[in-house]
Order: sequence, then structure tokens, then C-alpha cells
Amino acid sequence: MISLRNLVLRRSAKVLLDRTSVTITPGEKVGLVGRNGVGKSTLFGLLNGSLHEDAGDFSFPRQWRLAQVAQDMPETEDGATAFVIGGDTRLTELRAALEAAETRFAADPNDEEAGMAIAHVYSDLADAGEHDASARAQALILGLGFGVHELEQPVNSFSGGWRMRLQLARALMCPSDLLLLDEPTNHLDLDALVWLEAWLKSYAGTMIVISHDREFLDAVTSVTLHIDNAQLVRYGGNYSKFEEMRSEQLLLQQAAFAKQQDKIAHLQKFIDRFKAKASKAKQAQSRVKAIERMEKVAPMLATADFEFAFKEPERLPNPMLSITGADFGYVVEGAPRVIVRKVSRSVLAGQRIGILGANGQGKSTVVKTIARDLNALGGTITEGKGLTIGYFAQQELDVLRPQDTPLEHMVRLAREAGGASREPSGEQALRGFLGSFNFGTDMIRQAVGTMSGGEKARLVLAMMVWQRPNLLLLDEPTNHLDLVTREALAMALNQFEGTLMLVSHDRALLRSVCDEFWLIGRGTLAPFEGDLDDYQTYLLEESKRLRDEARSSEPTRAKVAVH
Ligand SMILES: Nc1ncnc2c1ncn2[C@@H]1O[C@H](COP(=O)(O)OP(=O)(O)OP(=O)(O)O)[C@@H](O)[C@H]1O
Ligand SMILES: [Mg+2]
Repeated sequence: MISLRNLVLRRSAKVLLDRTSVTITPGEKVGLVGRNGVGKSTLFGLLNGSLHEDAGDFSFPRQWRLAQVAQDMPETEDGATAFVIGGDTRLTELRAALEAAETRFAADPNDEEAGMAIAHVYSDLADAGEHDASARAQALILGLGFGVHELEQPVNSFSGGWRMRLQLARALMCPSDLLLLDEPTNHLDLDALVWLEAWLKSYAGTMIVISHDREFLDAVTSVTLHIDNAQLVRYGGNYSKFEEMRSEQLLLQQAAFAKQQDKIAHLQKFIDRFKAKASKAKQAQSRVKAIERMEKVAPMLATADFEFAFKEPERLPNPMLSITGADFGYVVEGAPRVIVRKVSRSVLAGQRIGILGANGQGKSTVVKTIARDLNALGGTITEGKGLTIGYFAQQELDVLRPQDTPLEHMVRLAREAGGASREPSGEQALRGFLGSFNFGTDMIRQAVGTMSGGEKARLVLAMMVWQRPNLLLLDEPTNHLDLVTREALAMALNQFEGTLMLVSHDRALLRSVCDEFWLIGRGTLAPFEGDLDDYQTYLLEESKRLRDEARSSEPTRAKVAVH
């Protein structure tokens, strides 16, 4: 059992948890939820031992084995399968022990102890599942969307998003009693997501998962822990059930609050009337006491709602872009590798295009090329006069400078824009601007490296809005954002007057802000006439086709990983 009693957890000046208690029983599947920056990831730090409580008690079964997804980008030449097997710490230890014993035995074949050690390690290895370790690792890798031809490719050869998937596979490979997952769905597309849900449902240990994805939480959790007002509150249900229970609770609380306020007002009236009268002073005094004694019901806290808007673009070139016979792709060791070919399309002012396509088909490549981060490999892309691009890249959070504060980022942005931007750029104005994105006085001076994932994503959005773009290129902008901020983004995008090109796995967002879709697949780009349900069907069929093709294909097939 995991138990927290009167626990206090701080990060510099912020009190994230303030004398809160909760228990988690073995085998429970828990969703840990709350707004960006409330301390969910920090709580994982306590559970995995990298942080300590500031007060109160925290207890955790000593013998429990813990598995979690490493947050760093793996850098190794090891093949994908070997890397994932490495996640099984017990197996890795035993393999090292075997090697040591074998070395000893080779040096001295009469070393009986070494001989015995070898025999022991072999039996332990069998218990640890050595015989099918490769097969288990590969099932995880394939389940997370990799092709058969990629099983032995070096980890370094994969793009960032795919390497993070390997990190996830590595965590799942590790036998564990407690599994900690911090936003595991951020790098996954639909079919990998469905696979992960199925895997987690059959996981036998205790699991705590942080996520802002309602459907995913509903599928895999049955208990919800909500961090709110520095308290951990436990709800015995999945996310939807939690929302239901919480809104009922808030209504009840609101009613109780109103009732109490009436009562206080009544007593107060009596006090006001009689406090000057000597004969009644005592009664008045006792009512003052009565008010003081009342256990105050807190008013329902209006959750600090958040809204923002894109500014009206200074001009709207039309067309924004003319793409003629363009090839999109990469240059690998001097040789062009085309992924999407012969695209001819115009992008007009005010168009709102959702860019669809299965993983690895080239969505990000096309967007990156339009954003001028990559060159077109053929054909031309002509930009309208006065085009200002606002680009939110999937790896955008990496471009923030961890040592710098939000204010320093804005100051730099303003300086780089020079006179080109007509936005107010004095420090005072920049502070005010950051304030409108919920970066208060403390946060504008906090190093970006210590901020939570959602806070960083919000900063990137703020920087983009400040640049007053007329063409928005958004590649998976909602990863990390909490639900309130996602809604604020959808609202802002709906009011945006420029042109929008959006890549997203968030179907609710695509549905609410796009008028038309482009589909990238099998090396081409074409308008997609169906709706998002048709698209989901398409995706599932396409991933099956790709897998079948990979199984029968020649080993030299080019890898097309875009993320
Ligand atoms: N070293 C630090 N110094 C100052 N503040 C910190 C530090 N580390 C974390 N914080 C702050 O503590 C708060 C909690 O961070 P945490 O990463 O736990 O949030 P989270 O709930 O996981 O949010 P998200 O949903 O955005 O991932 C944030 O406001 C963050 O800025
Ligand atoms: Mg977090």
C-alpha cells in the first residue's frame, strides 16, 4: 500500500501539496489529474525517490519493483530490440553476472565456485524469462507501431518521437509492481494508443498514470486522484465518473455555501443592530462568537479560466502559398530521399486545413518545409507577399532555453523582431503580455527548464501569438496542455482570421477548427473528402496494410519516420 499522511511538498516558493493524505491499494489503476503545473510530475518524483517530502509521512512497500518511462532522449547505437530488453533490469543484471562467472571459469576451469555460479545464474535466467525476452521485447516494439524491418535498427537512427516510444517499450519490458506513466500518449498515434490501452488493461501491478486525455483515462483507470488547491482528492471512478462526482460535489458545496452566507448575514444584522446597546451587548457578542465558530464552507472556486486570442493579422496575402510540383523529404548523406512527391496546391487566405495521415507518412515533413526549416527537394513553393508564419513544431519545447526565464525569452523575441514588429516591446508591456497567458509575477522569473510540460507549451503559444502571424502551422500543439488550455486554444483558433494548417491527433480539435482536410499517404498529398470517422477507419486499415507490407518487404525498404 502506498500512503501519504499530512504530506507537504514544495518546489522553491510554491507549496504544491499542503498537508494532504491519500492511500493507494495494490493493484489499483489510478489516473492522476489536475491543471498544468499543479504538481503531478513532482508527485511522481516523490514516488520514485528522486524527491523527498517537506513534511508529513510517505510510505511505500520496500520490496516493490518500480518501472517508469525515462524522460531523456536515448542516444545509443544499440538496436531497438536490445535497447528494449535492457529495460528488464533483472535480466540485465543476470546477464552481467553470467558473463562475469564465465570469464572466471574460462580463466580457471578448476574454479568450482565459478562453475556453480554459472549453473545458478542459468536457472535464475530461466526464471527471469530469458528464453523469450527477445520475442517479448519485439511484441512491445511492434505494438507501439514500429515496422518489422525496424526491430534491429540502431536507436540513434530514429526520430525523437519514435525514440520516446522505445523508452515507453523499455519501461513496459521491466517487470514491476508499480508502473508510473507520465503522459504516455503524447507521442502515440491512434493505433498505438489502442494497443497501449489493451496492454495496460492486462497489467497486473499497481499503475499510476498522468494524462490529459479523457478517453485514454476512461479506458485504463478505475480510480482518479485529483490535485486541486494543494490537496489530493481520491475519487473511486475513472475520469468521466470523477467529473460527474466532482461537479455534484461542487454544486452541493455551492448550495451549502449560499446557505451559510444567509445565516451569517442574519446574525450579522442582529449584531449591527444591537452592538451599541448596552442591554443587548452580550447577545450580540455571542453571535459574533457563533460566526467565528462556524466551520466556513469555502465558495466554489471559479477555476482560473484562461482565454487568449490571436491578433488580427496586419495583412492577408492571397494566395498565402503557391506550391507547384513540390517534392518533400530529407537529404540523407548527400542523397535526396523524397517522402511526398509532386504536390501542386494553393493555400488561400482564411483556409483552415487539417493535415491528416498515418504516422511516418510525412505530415511533419511537409509542415517543416512550408515553415522553411527544410528545403523542398524539387518544384517550388512561392510565398505571398507579407507572409508571417507562426510555427509550433512537435519538438518545439526543445527550442526553449532551459536556463532562461519566460521574460528573457520574450525580450529576445522582441529584440530579434527589431522594428519589424509593431507589438509593444518594452519590458513592462512584455510582462503584461505574459500575464495574459497566466504567467504571474513569480513565473516570469522562473527558469524555463524547471517549468512543467504544460507551462512550457503555453509559453511557446504565447511567443507565437506575439509574432502576429497570418499563417499558422501547428504540429501537434495540444500535447501537454490541460483540458482548459486546449479549449482556450480551440477558441482562439476559431477566431483567428488568417490561414491555419493543423496536424493533430486530437480529433475534437480537428473537428472544431478545420473546414477541410488534406491527406498525406503513400507518397502523395490529396484532399480528403470524408469526415473524421472515415479517417479513423482509413487509419486502422492503413496501419494494417503497412504492417503486412513490412512483413513481406525486402529488408532494404527505406525507413520513413517523421515525427
Ligand atoms: N525546481 C523548481 N523551481 C521552481 N518551481 C518548480 C521547480 N520544479 C517545478 N516547479 C514548479 O512546480 C509546479 C509543478 O510542476 P509539475 O511539473 O509537477 O506540474 P504538472 O502537474 O506535472 O504539470 P503538467 O500538466 O504541465 O505536466 C510548476 O508550477 C513548476 O513550474
Ligand atoms: Mg507533468
